[in-house]
Amino acid sequence: MIFKVISGGLNSGKEALLLGLSEGGKLPAWAAAWPAPIRSAAEDLLKTKRVSGKLNETFLLPVAGRWIVFVGVGKAAELTLDKVRQASGTGARRILSAGFDRFTRGLLPVPNASVKQVAQAAAEGTLLGTYSFTQWKSVKPADKKELKIVTVLVGNGKDLSAVRKGIEAGRQVADSALWTRDMVNQPANKLTPTMLANEAKSAARKFRFSCRVLDMKAQKKLGMEALLGVARGSREPSKFIVLEYKGPGSAGKKPLIWLGKGITFDSGGISIKPSEKMELMKYDMAGAAAVLGAMRATAALKLPVHVVGLIASTENLPGGSAQKPGDVVRAMGGKTIEVINTDAEGRLVLADALGYARKYYKPAAMVDLATLTGACVVALGQHCGGLMGTNASWNKQVEKAGQQSGERVWELPLWDEYTEAVRSDVADVKNVGDGKAGTITAASFLREFAGEEIPWVHLDIAGVAWADGDRGHLRKGATAFGVRLLVDLAAGWNGKV
Ligand code: BES
Ligand code: MN
Ligand code: ZN
Repeated sequence: MIFKVISGGLNSGKEALLLGLSEGGKLPAWAAAWPAPIRSAAEDLLKTKRVSGKLNETFLLPVAGRWIVFVGVGKAAELTLDKVRQASGTGARRILSAGFDRFTRGLLPVPNASVKQVAQAAAEGTLLGTYSFTQWKSVKPADKKELKIVTVLVGNGKDLSAVRKGIEAGRQVADSALWTRDMVNQPANKLTPTMLANEAKSAARKFRFSCRVLDMKAQKKLGMEALLGVARGSREPSKFIVLEYKGPGSAGKKPLIWLGKGITFDSGGISIKPSEKMELMKYDMAGAAAVLGAMRATAALKLPVHVVGLIASTENLPGGSAQKPGDVVRAMGGKTIEVINTDAEGRLVLADALGYARKYYKPAAMVDLATLTGACVVALGQHCGGLMGTNASWNKQVEKAGQQSGERVWELPLWDEYTEAVRSDVADVKNVGDGKAGTITAASFLREFAGEEIPWVHLDIAGVAWADGDRGHLRKGATAFGVRLLVDLAAGWNGKV
């Protein structure tokens, strides 16, 4: 897809047009720039209540020989970058399904946002919203038609370079997120821990960050018994992936550390899951893929930050030598864990990742991303991830990055009382709680390995990493949740928590 940025008005050209309509029964202020016949057609749609302007509503209509797709953006005064992102995705998809491979659009004014930011959100929405995963279809579905050219009209000539820069940044972020989506959508026989590590290596080469893959021998030497315990049930070797990016001027600065849960398939192990929907457990590496995508985008944008990415990857299967309920393992940091439920494997592999971070780095702050608990899906659903952390100001920074990027997270309390639930009779901790507040007790378990000195946030993305259907810039399937949040966090990072 090519974005053509030109200065001009909507009068010229014959290409299909994508136009935003706001909610409230009246034409928005920006409609002043529309040709008169389009304005009166839109007014008629609103007056006759065929269109309300609600976010993501669409209407296709020919006006004076030109096809128009109207897309709702909600109330004009409440327009945000995320609504631009969503409407851009929905609108571009409607254009595609109407049979066009190109269209023309403008950029809407967003309160408190720059032209560059609006252009970036529009580019992201267009690219993300028209993505599809068809690698394993012998006959490509009809809606696979690709958008070739999106012409972006800029009313004010002095904004041209800001728009071009915004689109370029949006392209980097979206391409990274689409790579993340591809990995998450990939079935588990096509994306093993080894293949995940290979993806990491090739991106590292291309985008110039470093990547080291620790094999099982190295994991053993480091004492990663928690990760190796999960890996015992599988014939696929587990991989521990270490990524490092040092942006311009970041030498000598303490790194931000991003950690990802990389379970390429979670059957539950000996504590096996019910077969209903088990196929979805290929997305249990979404945290790892988000860390990879964010590293790629951060490097592509050349952000002036020092970031380390740590990924613990294995399958969780019930093979003949699988770990068993009641087994005790010692994590890298030295603490022992009683494995009560082999299906609570994410926190096990992350325990070793956190141990590695603390042993080999002096992190300024850490964020882990994990599809960790079904309880988080129950508590928060698909509209935000769960956030828990040990440092109020770091929690706030991460939450703000979520808000700004449109990948929202909501804090749950990580009070000391919850830790009681993961105390074990035979080891230092056990890997399940008491059945209550499962998302928080999982975080309390991780906290035992993150420690209290380094600001640390845990993001439970079980509910947001996968979409049940198309929604704005999201397509059914992998969402790449976390990529934009982490990039926003890195872009706003000033070295201080
Ligand atoms: N990967 C799952 C969590 C999950 C569930 C992610 C649904 C996405 C959708 C995780 O490894 C798991 O199995 N968690 C258990 C923990 C329990 C055994 C304490 C769960 O949530 O049931
Ligand atoms: Mn599990
Ligand atoms: Zn899992």
